[in-house]
Amino acid sequence: MSKIVIVQGSLSKDSKTVIVVAETERVLKSRNIDFETLDLRSLELQFCDGRNLADYNADMQKAYRILESADAFIFGMPVYCWSMSGVVKNLIDITAGALENKVAGILCNAGGNRSFMSSADLINVLYYESGVMTVHPIVYTSYEDFKNGKLVNEKPLAKIPTMVDALMKQLSV
Ligand SMILES: Cc1cc2nc3c(=O)[nH]c(=O)nc-3n(C[C@H](O)[C@H](O)[C@H](O)COP(=O)(O)O)c2cc1C
Repeated sequence: MSKIVIVQGSLSKDSKTVIVVAETERVLKSRNIDFETLDLRSLELQFCDGRNLADYNADMQKAYRILESADAFIFGMPVYCWSMSGVVKNLIDITAGALENKVAGILCNAGGNRSFMSSADLINVLYYESGVMTVHPIVYTSYEDFKNGKLVNEKPLAKIPTMVDALMKQLSV
C-alpha cells in the first residue's frame, strides 16, 4: 500500500495551512489511503548548513526517516513573499535525499488571492533538488476562503480530492 506524507509547513499557532491540511487528511482517511503528517511545529528545527544527516539533531533525522518512508508527498506551504516559507525550503535542503524521484501535491496557502504563482518556486525546488514531479491541480487558498476557523470556499474544497486523485494516479503508473 502506498504511503503519503503530508508536510505541514507553517510554524504559526493560528495557521490556516493547518486547516487545509486537516481537510486533506479527512479526504485521505475517507479513501483509506495510508498517510502520516509531519507538522513542522512539532519538531526542534535546525538550519541546513550542509553537514551530514547524522550530525543533525534527533528531530531532523526523524523528519528525514518519515519523508523517506513516503511514496508521495503533499506539501502544505504558507506563502511568504511569493514563495514557500523559509522553514519549508530549509526542510527540503536537509532532507532532499529522502524525496528523490517521488511525486508531490501542493497546498498553497496565502494571505491574498493573487499569489497563486508562489507555488512555482516550490515546484522548481522540488524538481531541481530532488527530481520530484508535482501534480495538478494545486490547491490554493487565501484569507477570504476561511470562516470561523474553517475552509468554506467550495473551489479549494473540491480541488483537494482532485489533487489526491492525481497523486494516486501517478503512484499507480
Ligand atoms: C513574511 C510573510 C510574507 C508573506 N508574503 C505573502 C505574499 O507574498 N503573498 C500573500 O498573498 N501572502 C503573504 N503572506 C501572508 C501569508 O501567506 C498568510 O498569513 C498565510 O495564512 C500564512 O500561512 P499560515 O496561516 O499557515 O501560517 C505573508 C506572510 C508573512 C508572515
